Amino acid sequence: MHICVLGQGYVGLPLAVRAAEVGHTVTGYEPDRARCEALAAGSSYVEDIGDDRLQAVLGSDTYYATSDPQDLKGFDVAVITVPTPLTDRAPDLSCVRDAGRVLAGWIEPGATVVLESTTHPGTTRDVLIPLLEEGSGLVAGRDFHVGFSPERIDPGNADWRLENTPKIVAGLTEGCLERVKAFYDTVTDVTVPASGLEEAELAKVFENTYRHVNIALVNELSRMAHTLGVDVWHTLELAATKPFGFTRFLPGPGVGGHCLPIDPVYLSHHVKARHGQTFRLIELAQDINESQPDYVVRRLQDALSRRFRRSVHGARILALGATYKPGTSDARQSPAVEVIDRLRQMGADVTVADPYVAVADGSCREIPFGPATATTATTVTVADFDAVVLLTPHDEFDLVRLAAEAAYVLDTRGVMAAAPHVERL
Ligand SMILES: NC(=O)c1ccc[n+]([C@@H]2O[C@H](COP(=O)([O-])OP(=O)(O)OC[C@H]3O[C@@H](n4cnc5c(N)ncnc54)[C@H](O)[C@@H]3O)[C@@H](O)[C@H]2O)c1
Repeated sequence: MHICVLGQGYVGLPLAVRAAEVGHTVTGYEPDRARCEALAAGSSYVEDIGDDRLQAVLGSDTYYATSDPQDLKGFDVAVITVPTPLTDRAPDLSCVRDAGRVLAGWIEPGATVVLESTTHPGTTRDVLIPLLEEGSGLVAGRDFHVGFSPERIDPGNADWRLENTPKIVAGLTEGCLERVKAFYDTVTDVTVPASGLEEAELAKVFENTYRHVNIALVNELSRMAHTLGVDVWHTLELAATKPFGFTRFLPGPGVGGHCLPIDPVYLSHHVKARHGQTFRLIELAQDINESQPDYVVRRLQDALSRRFRRSVHGARILALGATYKPGTSDARQSPAVEVIDRLRQMGADVTVADPYVAVADGSCREIPFGPATATTATTVTVADFDAVVLLTPHDEFDLVRLAAEAAYVLDTRGVMAAAPHVERL
């Protein structure tokens, strides 16, 4: 089949490469020319796709990256994997609309269009389909097929990958569902049919809402436990020994990435705008998780003042990790960046170390403890800093050395052993 994947980012590129590997002819449509040129040259900017895999599908002529909409001509299945961000704290579907408009002109009878971008229930039916019908002059469900299949990709997760993570599939009609399922059955081990588009859309935003709310719960618990003088990490370990009815979530500096801070807002904003209802738990979780970077800064401030009679202003602070989770270069909406920004606004002299984030962007100057990147590293002496805040525990960080050399560490992820000079959140 000729597959087009619109958007070659964290979601679209792995799908495109996988589809090419299983024998489809794949066009990766990417309007960002710099990204497109990198792909054409065999250079992947998505960690989960190594250059070797990209070069193999380029070499076998089963994958082609392009910024030219004309290359969408003659597709059997087109999958939309474009960003669904927030603008002014509200859902912004402009990329979905743009992709729909571009695609509409190339839909031929019998073709299938699938939306994968995370969004609120009703988007495929009320936003995408009208654009596809208007631009093609065809009728969805009769002349061409439309579906929704949410992406569950977890960047950096080597155990759960695209092919072995169950994939929800939905169609506008039974016939649409059959086509959508038939395509995904070629790229994933398990497909899970939904009985409608909106169910599948809601399932995806709910999955992330569930995590968001539970993370807010443990973040608030960690503040309470600190006030009570109880170790929250041990408390959670104890609770997690219950073999049923309990799932362990961990506190941290907040939530980040393209999913957790955004997807629940798609749901809460939609039900408020459309139906005047407030999704109270989402709003509360949002408040708690968004204030977590401030809480981290406050803890650091307290520690500096209590231990060294210093203020944050003028303190030399080493921030370890800027991305939203370990093992990825994705720093979008990262709470680590929020913490770093706040500390700098308060006059701290902050050095950021992250082996995954480009040193060139100016925010990350040093890479200590990084054997994998030792050739590019400017070694820092941990003892030169008044305090270290561990924000993202990348594997490259040598935590034993950190504990031995630092004057004080605030470990926001609970990965270090507690010691007199190592405090956990
Ligand atoms: N990153 C994740 O872990 C993840 C997981 C599950 C779901 N999602 C969802 O998948 C969608 C894509 O996320 P992502 O992380 O891959 O984003 P991304 O920013 O990494 O990639 C999106 C790509 O789409 C391109 N693009 C923008 N407008 C376009 C258009 N009109 N036509 C074609 N391409 C266009 C961008 O240039 C970019 O390269 C979002 O809805 C996101 O919420 C992401």
